[in-house]
Amino acid sequence: MTGARRRVLLAAVLVAGASATVAAQKVFTADELRVVERIVGTYFESAKSLSAAQDYETAKVRLIVAREYLARSWTFWTRHERGDAAKMVTATTAALDALDDRLSEVPIDPARVQEAVQEASAACETCHAAFRVEHPAAGTYDIKPGIISEPAGRERP
Ligand code: HEC
Repeated sequence: MTGARRRVLLAAVLVAGASATVAAQKVFTADELRVVERIVGTYFESAKSLSAAQDYETAKVRLIVAREYLARSWTFWTRHERGDAAKMVTATTAALDALDDRLSEVPIDPARVQEAVQEASAACETCHAAFRVEHPAAGTYDIKPGIISEPAGRERP
């Protein structure tokens, strides 16, 4: 897919989506990061299962949204002086681009698609292991304590 076509498609998806509210915004606060991560998670999971079902065209549309939102989180980490995390955003968007490339091959090789899905998932998990904490009882997630120096707009109980 060309860059131009990708952008047109993305615009169409974002207009159609209910979560278009953060679409035009940069990600500054921890609350905004959480919203963005949820969108990334929803769209990436969907791209994953559609890839497994070999519905590649739809998988690609979902993947583009995940990639676009993940890329926005770069601002958050940079603003909070976490260049290490920002680098992981860059590495992970590159892994999502690699998956996009596999989904754009003619003909598409299902094994190579699955390989790229695994690599992208591993990139997400590397960052989560370093920067995310789970609260298993509540089933919620947070930024690990001490990673950012200010609460960044999140209400703490
Ligand atoms: C730069 C590091 C980083 C990368 C890369 C990253 N995440 Fe996250 N993610 C986080 C952090 C930190 C949180 C915790 C934020 C929160 O939920 O408050 C999080 C939370 C999440 C959540 C839980 C959101 C919630 O609170 O309900 C999901 C789902 C998620 N990420 C999916 C993904 C997926 C899928 C990818 C890869 C395509 C990915 N993330 C890549 C750092 C990252």
